[in-house]
Amino acid sequence: MGKEVASALGRWFALEDMPIQAELVAVADLNPAALQWFDRIPTVTQKTADYHALLANRDVDVVYVAVPHDLHEKVYMDTLAAGKDLFAEKPFGIDLKAAVNIALSARTSGRFVRCSSEFPFYPGVQRVIQAVQQRDLGKIIEVRAGFWHASDLDPQKPINWKRQKAKCGEAGVMNDLGMHVLHVPLRMGWKPVRIHAQLQNIIAERPDAAGVMVPCDTDDNAILNCDALIDGREVPMRLETKRIAPGETNTWFIEVYGTNSSIKFSTKEPKTLWVFRRDKEQMWQRIDLGHQTAFKVVTGPIFEFGFPDSFLQMWAAYLSERGGILGDRLGCVTTDEAVVSHRIFEAALESARNKTVVEI
Ligand SMILES: NC(=O)c1ccc[n+]([C@@H]2O[C@H](COP(=O)([O-])OP(=O)(O)OC[C@H]3O[C@@H](n4cnc5c(N)ncnc54)[C@H](O)[C@@H]3O)[C@@H](O)[C@H]2O)c1
Repeated sequence: MGKEVASALGRWFALEDMPIQAELVAVADLNPAALQWFDRIPTVTQKTADYHALLANRDVDVVYVAVPHDLHEKVYMDTLAAGKDLFAEKPFGIDLKAAVNIALSARTSGRFVRCSSEFPFYPGVQRVIQAVQQRDLGKIIEVRAGFWHASDLDPQKPINWKRQKAKCGEAGVMNDLGMHVLHVPLRMGWKPVRIHAQLQNIIAERPDAAGVMVPCDTDDNAILNCDALIDGREVPMRLETKRIAPGETNTWFIEVYGTNSSIKFSTKEPKTLWVFRRDKEQMWQRIDLGHQTAFKVVTGPIFEFGFPDSFLQMWAAYLSERGGILGDRLGCVTTDEAVVSHRIFEAALESARNKTVVEI
């Protein structure tokens, strides 16, 4: 993910009306090949295997940290202790305890801390958010949101750290994909109050690098059936995170159904927004979207939007909020939202363990 961020910062000049400048000056990684990749970036003046050396660099104001989940707490805390602002990766600590510790340190340090989640910066998602905020939908009937891919469909795919509880966390796929799914619902104020979770560890063994079968102990798929409090009423909200979703490469979606109108967007059709308005006939309208972004870029409004664009927009949001110029645009995941996401994952684990409905 460090490379993805380097790519976004590398075309910072594509942002129009952006008074804040950003450039990549330092990189830390234990892996020499990963470090070497950054040779292509002329602004990088420091490459080190020791992240403490990066944290001691006076030219560094903001640190983006993308490491395995078991290292989040330590590296995030060290970053804050070094007096740097932090752009954290999800899930913001391996579990609830770690997330709370990081959030408390963020507060006491006074540093600016947000967590990564890029999909809400797609123009289609911005339109969904706008429709909800403008109260176009009437009474909300139901919410469905999810993130699906099929990266783990092949049982022979070698194991990596994301498939091991010790490094990915007990919450497995929820730690991996859950923050992506929760960012918009939490920002809209739709907090689950009750949850019934269906968690599946579908492929329980995978080959290691030597081809020996080893335990793959994280859950692959999670379906969270929630009651969410929306405008004082309990509304069904289904949140799905799946690493084994046949037919999907990287499908993030949100669907909000209301009594006046409904709206849905999926990255499966990245330039399509579906809108339904109550009328005599049951008719969904398909709106063709372009590059209508929250942060203006050189790319013309008729051109398609994609994943790297969402990263550029997310970074524009992070640095704008840090610089006090975000205005009414969507900001990145807050430390409180990150903590709430872990509370939800913990409740889901309890629900699946005891086969019960859990109050949050
Ligand atoms: N926002 C997104 O869309 C998105 C996508 C994938 C992953 N992620 C998140 O990014 C983080 C990293 O995931 P990834 O897929 O990039 O993992 P990865 O395994 O591809 O990369 C992790 C990197 O961290 C380095 N590293 C490990 N320990 C280190 C240390 N002590 N000091 C310096 N470098 C160290 C490794 O050498 C490796 O290059 C995770 O938190 C993950 O959840 C976010």
